[in-house]
Amino acid sequence: MLKILTIIGARPQIIKAAAISRAIQKNFSTKMHELIIHTGQHYDENMSQIFFDELEIPRPDFMFEMKGKTPEEQITEMQLKIESIIAHQPPDAVLVYGDTNSTYAGALAAEKSKFPLIHIEAGLRSWNNDMPEERNRVYADRVSTLLFSPTITGYNNLIQEGFPTHNNPPYSITNQKIYHCGDVMFDNSMHFSKIADSKTNVLEKYHLENEKFILATIHRNTNTDNPNHLNAIFSAFLEIANNNSLKIILPLHPRTKKMSHELLKDDLNQKINSSPNLIITEPVSFLEMIALEKNCALVMTDSGGVQKEAFYFQKPCVVLRKETEWTELVNCGAATLSGAEDASRIIQATLNLLNHPPKKFPQFFGDGKAAEFICSEIISKINKA
Ligand code: UD1
Ligand code: UDP
Repeated sequence: MLKILTIIGARPQIIKAAAISRAIQKNFSTKMHELIIHTGQHYDENMSQIFFDELEIPRPDFMFEMKGKTPEEQITEMQLKIESIIAHQPPDAVLVYGDTNSTYAGALAAEKSKFPLIHIEAGLRSWNNDMPEERNRVYADRVSTLLFSPTITGYNNLIQEGFPTHNNPPYSITNQKIYHCGDVMFDNSMHFSKIADSKTNVLEKYHLENEKFILATIHRNTNTDNPNHLNAIFSAFLEIANNNSLKIILPLHPRTKKMSHELLKDDLNQKINSSPNLIITEPVSFLEMIALEKNCALVMTDSGGVQKEAFYFQKPCVVLRKETEWTELVNCGAATLSGAEDASRIIQATLNLLNHPPKKFPQFFGDGKAAEFICSEIISKINKA
């Protein structure tokens, strides 16, 4: 039985882990066993526990406490704690997702302890070195043994960076194996789409009608911590919600909640609070999120995952950033990069997409079975210690 040590910590990783855990339980439970570390990077009930319950993810075997620590303190402490677990219960490989500080800490610990690392969501690049995520993902790729890229763009990025395509086993940190395998998030969205409408009442709860509302999320530090960006984004939301027959629902990330208290101008804040069409809520569950994505007219977001989910459900998307890792969404016309400096540009991009909705949503993200493929490759390519 192969023993995999899975590291998760931030909301999107918990959600991604559901696809792999489901595949193991369904098809590979006699060949592969997962030990799960939750780094504690996200800790609010609605940023963490809710997903374990709703998506039936096994309870973490190890849980760290990171609340109140700086990102630097978190990375150091997570790394040391993961190293200690690796030393006491040596796995056959360590598995990390995406590009958060938990990914980085897991990669550092695996590399230092000399255990094979598996990186799911490898090869994505924003080419923006100001983002901590860019450091995290580039480092994780460098020290991985198996690299699973969800898109052909990610796979090609790896080739451009010098990762070879034809290495032979046994694979290792110096003889890496790269894959283009589809997206575990697409697997999840397809799986849970069938039950999201019947198991939630989020539309009724917020008095939303099909295609008569916009779903928005913001949490990227380049937006939340920049007063110009944050004020421009909220001004654009207010203007769109007040002057079009569309409501906006904004499930607010805790980081954005905190920063909007500090950075939004007083008069804008008052207008936001008195607008019946701009509905600001606590973070919602994944099933509620899917129900909102399936039924909205358009998505406005700076989230990586939410951009893709908009696409899976064939909704136009305004990306509140200057660049995206998911370039195929923009290239095929399904998404527009509006930036976040200028409210009028955000409004214009939104109205353009509403008036000229995209028609084509090609299958960029696989067939909904990426998790099965990843598990079978792990089983055949990672050697039992
Ligand atoms: C992190 C990831 C980002 C990912 C996002 C997903 C890094 C560098 N960033 O950003 O790539 O897109 O998660 O949501 O890893 N907070 C709470 N409760 C929580 C979690 C966070 O109050 O449960 C607040 C805290 O004030 C915390 C702040 O949000 O300091 C930022 O959290 P952090 O995990 O550092 O970064 P995110 O912005 O969530
Ligand atoms: N999500 C959620 N509830 C919310 C907002 C987002 O369940 O209130 C889900 C969303 O559907 C997607 C994931 O969280 O699956 C995206 O995470 P996030 O936007 O926090 O991070 P990113 O993808 O940008 O790293």
